[in-house]
Amino acid sequence: MNNKTNNLWGGRFSESTDDFVKVFGASILFDKILAPYDIQGSIAHATMLCEVGIIAIDEKEKIINGLNQILDEINSGNFNWNIELEDVHMNVESRLTDICGDAGKKLHTGRSRNDQVSTDIRLYLRDNVDGLVKDITRLQLSIVNLADEEYSTIMPGFTHLQAAQPVTFGHHLMAYFEMLNRDMQRLIECRKRINTLPLGSAALAGTTYPIDRNRTADLLGFESISSNSIDAVSDRDFVIEFNSLASIIMMHLSRFSEELILWSSAQFNFIELSDSFCTGSSIMPQKKNPDVPELVRGKTGRVYGNLVSILTTMKGQPLAYNKDNQEDKEPLFDTVETLKSCIRVFADMIPNIETKRDNMYNSTKKGYTTATDLADYLVNKGVPFRDAHEIVGKSVSYGIEHQKDLSELSLEELQVFDERIDNGVFDILSLEGSVGSRNHFGATSPQQVKKAIKAARKSLK
Ligand code: ARG
Repeated sequence: MNNKTNNLWGGRFSESTDDFVKVFGASILFDKILAPYDIQGSIAHATMLCEVGIIAIDEKEKIINGLNQILDEINSGNFNWNIELEDVHMNVESRLTDICGDAGKKLHTGRSRNDQVSTDIRLYLRDNVDGLVKDITRLQLSIVNLADEEYSTIMPGFTHLQAAQPVTFGHHLMAYFEMLNRDMQRLIECRKRINTLPLGSAALAGTTYPIDRNRTADLLGFESISSNSIDAVSDRDFVIEFNSLASIIMMHLSRFSEELILWSSAQFNFIELSDSFCTGSSIMPQKKNPDVPELVRGKTGRVYGNLVSILTTMKGQPLAYNKDNQEDKEPLFDTVETLKSCIRVFADMIPNIETKRDNMYNSTKKGYTTATDLADYLVNKGVPFRDAHEIVGKSVSYGIEHQKDLSELSLEELQVFDERIDNGVFDILSLEGSVGSRNHFGATSPQQVKKAIKAARKSLK
């Protein structure tokens, strides 16, 4: 590099870039993680350039060998990243020219960093989406396994965080399986829009060379090619879409975290998280803090923040490419890493959860959770539902006054509220009777939970 200007674009410049501006404008400190994808894209580009006769075979070979050498240098930690070369694209290209001279200088024919960077991000994101789909599957499997152990365990189901109706713990856990299933479907759907080739759009208008974009797409495994060069180099909606999906996944993990935190408190005491996923307090010896779910809940904030960051980066930009777009990378990379680590830690933590079945059971007895069952019982005896609701409300109030659950009231006590009540009522007032009677597709009975688990296992194969 001459000391006045950048060799890769400095032709028209007579003064060198301000020293701090070099640092300010450089993305190399974070975009170097794109290097393997940048090299993958360049190998495909060079192959296509050779096939259509724009570069010679020996030039293509020099380029590809040089790029493979660079990948080795990077992987073994021997690559010399230079901040003066601004970004990953120019670091790789400059090293390629060191290695193979003029052939290296031909690689950028018919291409711009604008279509190159979008290609790199798409390759990076496609790879990570595939990894995330596998990670989510592993997490789902750990949920299904726990649900299988707890398919008939009774716990209070809540609305408004007030005990509502008895449910099975397996059913509650399987709710998260369903959320993650939709999350995974959304990722797979989004992958199609990621997996389209921008290369060939060049700076913004396309290129004068007789390139073969379909060939490049085939070489890179892209399932389509972009239809408008201006759109292809300027939009980052695929990054935003991914980050939106990531935010939804984090929202689901955060709700799950919140429940694990509540359930492992002394006040709920429904579960015990393994020591290996908790920490102690430096001052309070009795403490065992649920750090892992707390951190996942906390990290949800930064993933939402990344979404807002990229949306805001895009909103004011005129078409086509602007340097603003360089700001898409750190939030995206951060979201990918955060999501990966949260899913991983969850998948590892769940198999180590100890369920305190007796505590769950006793807690379910406390909240008059079979009140709806009593109302349904009266309806079956011909009482209109609204009247039944009123009658049960009065029985609950009596129970509270005498500190008894509905199942602990005697037949005589119950008959004061409605004489149609008979001995059969005790079958439905039991917790087992309550969950067992909700026995249709999608409901909480152990039998249905078993079926849901079976279907889930099948879908995970
Ligand atoms: N580092 C740049 C980015 O991340 C690459 C594209 C640069 N293009 C340009 N015309 N300056 O967006």
